[in-house]
Amino acid sequence: MADEFFSRIEHLAEVDSTQRVMREWLAEGLAEVAVVSADVQTAGRGRQGRNWHAPPGAALLLSIGFRPTALAVGHAWRLGATVSLAMLDAAEAAAGLKDDTLWLKWPNDIVATPGAAAGQLMAVGRGPQPLKVAGVLGEVELKDGLIETAVVGIGVNADWRAIHFPAELALSMTSLHELSAGRPIDREQLLDEFLARLEPRYEGLRTGRFDVGGWSRKQVTTGRQVELDVGSRSISGLAVGVEPESGALLVEVDGKPERIESGEVVRCRLR
Ligand code: BTN
Repeated sequence: MADEFFSRIEHLAEVDSTQRVMREWLAEGLAEVAVVSADVQTAGRGRQGRNWHAPPGAALLLSIGFRPTALAVGHAWRLGATVSLAMLDAAEAAAGLKDDTLWLKWPNDIVATPGAAAGQLMAVGRGPQPLKVAGVLGEVELKDGLIETAVVGIGVNADWRAIHFPAELALSMTSLHELSAGRPIDREQLLDEFLARLEPRYEGLRTGRFDVGGWSRKQVTTGRQVELDVGSRSISGLAVGVEPESGALLVEVDGKPERIESGEVVRCRLR
């Protein structure tokens, strides 16, 4: 890792949200690429106004600060995708998982299929669903119509045992600990593996190269029946792929193509 690539890397014991810390650092003028992680967040934030909670030490919680001046506003979504892809590879390496244990669930969740989490209870009734391993929250500040700063936060269920999963999430989440059959997950090693993979991917993005192939191939939804929450609408259809220019999810609804630019996949029938 080139030293000058990261402007600041800091670990905090407890914080409200690493997103807030990173936004303040950038507002004070800190250069990119900066990283802040924490053992505990007292007010962790998820997508769509949700809270994000993990017991102390169970998850890798971090925010990355960028100043992606050359990135078009319409490509801002690629920052979250780049962070997700770097973390997916890092997580497979740090947890000793086989390639293709982890997938992406549009837009940027990292998921595993239930077969990979063999010891865990499974939902019955609606067919096997992807299990969430990590979630990504991307927040962008614009100035004069251009991206000034961006903060991408990621929370990875690392050394989190299934017996401690919250009851309401236990059937829809897993952790690297469970996927690696109980092996302890070293969060520092996971962070190092991630930073080493983020650097070349972000250097690529700076010069207009995004890993479209890797991002498209990893979409767990492609070829599957999905149900989506899109604002106040609910949509069911066949996910047929993703669009590299806009980042949209492409779904056939009653035989008609729809482009979904933002929303949440609430079901994805794996079989
Ligand atoms: C999601 O809803 O799936 C996104 C979750 C993002 C959580 C991470 S944890 C580190 C960073 N700090 C936050 O407050 N949120 C993000």
